[in-house]
Amino acid sequence: MDISQIVFHLSGIPIPEVKYFDQTGSTNDDAIAWILAGAPDGSLVIANRQTEGRGRLGRRWITQPGSALAFSLILRPTPAEQVVSGLFTALGALAISRALEIELGLQPEIKWPNDILLNRKKVAGILVESSWIGDTLQGLVLGIGLNISPEAVPPPDQLIYPATSVEEAAGRPVSRLELLRAISGQIFEWRAKIGDPVFRSAWEDRLAFKGEWVSIHEAADPEAAPVNGEVIGLDPSGSLVLRLASGDLVSVVAGDVHLRSRR
Ligand code: BTN
Repeated sequence: MDISQIVFHLSGIPIPEVKYFDQTGSTNDDAIAWILAGAPDGSLVIANRQTEGRGRLGRRWITQPGSALAFSLILRPTPAEQVVSGLFTALGALAISRALEIELGLQPEIKWPNDILLNRKKVAGILVESSWIGDTLQGLVLGIGLNISPEAVPPPDQLIYPATSVEEAAGRPVSRLELLRAISGQIFEWRAKIGDPVFRSAWEDRLAFKGEWVSIHEAADPEAAPVNGEVIGLDPSGSLVLRLASGDLVSVVAGDVHLRSRR
């Protein structure tokens, strides 16, 4: 992978500028710095290797060279998009899922809020971060990490959740740059529909554990008792809707979903 191959593969996609690093700490950090330095909407930071990559809830996301996609797209949301800014993680999830379906005929599932599963194992994660000056939003960073080859999958003792790679699921070699092109294209396609009913139903059609009984430890209060309920769908702000045993519907803003048996 080099900058000219990347730019070639992104032709026709509205990405005005690209920064490529053979090695960097975190593409999300690079993208946040670039927002403050004036990066235009749609700019891309991509790395072959990440040494300090970050995941949700302070977790690490290390990217081994040549084995994965690790990139961050800079978005400068319009006022209308700012109203639905909680849906940008869902946008990343839907874009990755559609790309894997269209390019490789795979059947990904979205594990709310930010994981993509293949055969119930994690293949990708999304980390959306925002950059503010005072109370003015400067931009969002949509960070995506996708395991392409088996070398990208960390050893089992470093995993919180079982993991896989695209090549393991597809059973054949996969081009990183073709998937980058497909995912980027899907991001811009679905961005135009963010917040629309069609966006929500496309996301919910791919929701893992839908109709199943789960337990969620809410991120805001790890000491609190988990919320147990049946997975229903996504609310307009990007929260997960659960039906409790009482029949009441609740929205969970952030947390980790675990399957559990119904009681
Ligand atoms: C997660 O699963 O918790 C999210 C992982 C997100 C990793 C990507 S890799 C590219 C971008 N740069 C980072 O430091 N993190 C994201």
